[in-house]
Amino acid sequence: MERTLVILKPGALQRGLVGEIISRFEKRGLKLVAMKMRQLDQEILDKHYAHLKDKPFFPWLCSGMTAAPVILCCWEGFEAVKVVRAMAGTTNARNAAPGTIRGDYALSSQENVVHTSDSVENAKEELDRFFSAEDYCEYPSPLNQFLYAPDEK
Ligand code: TYD
Repeated sequence: MERTLVILKPGALQRGLVGEIISRFEKRGLKLVAMKMRQLDQEILDKHYAHLKDKPFFPWLCSGMTAAPVILCCWEGFEAVKVVRAMAGTTNARNAAPGTIRGDYALSSQENVVHTSDSVENAKEELDRFFSAEDYCEYPSPLNQFLYAPDEK
């Protein structure tokens, strides 16, 4: 099973969209294996958004991401990184397809409601940044036979 990080950004919390967004991942069949609320700071954003440090919008991005707490969650499923990324929609929410999270709840490149890991490698790195081993919960998945075929992985 693959694991991926979703961050419900401050805008999702302030706009009362947390339940709605989490519900989408639950209904899709993904398994929630870790979740916490945290106020992000510049130090962690410098690492998380290191690839964007030289962009002119970086300071605005960081003020948006620290404007209120975020909800961090780890979702598990076969090819979860790809599945969750597709559910989020394109970075610029104005181009995001209706039916995606950004396409339904956002109108901005910056204020686009969610962060989702963009590769399996980055998902591992990001999850290690925000979660430690004891944050993960092990519990049975009795519905897996109704979500996946025996040969799927
Ligand atoms: P990026 O990693 O390119 O996209 P994504 O979140 O879809 O993986 O960018 C990270 C965040 O940076 C993005 O969610 C919002 C912000 N951002 C802007 O504010 N303006 C922009 O033009 C871009 C490309 C990103």
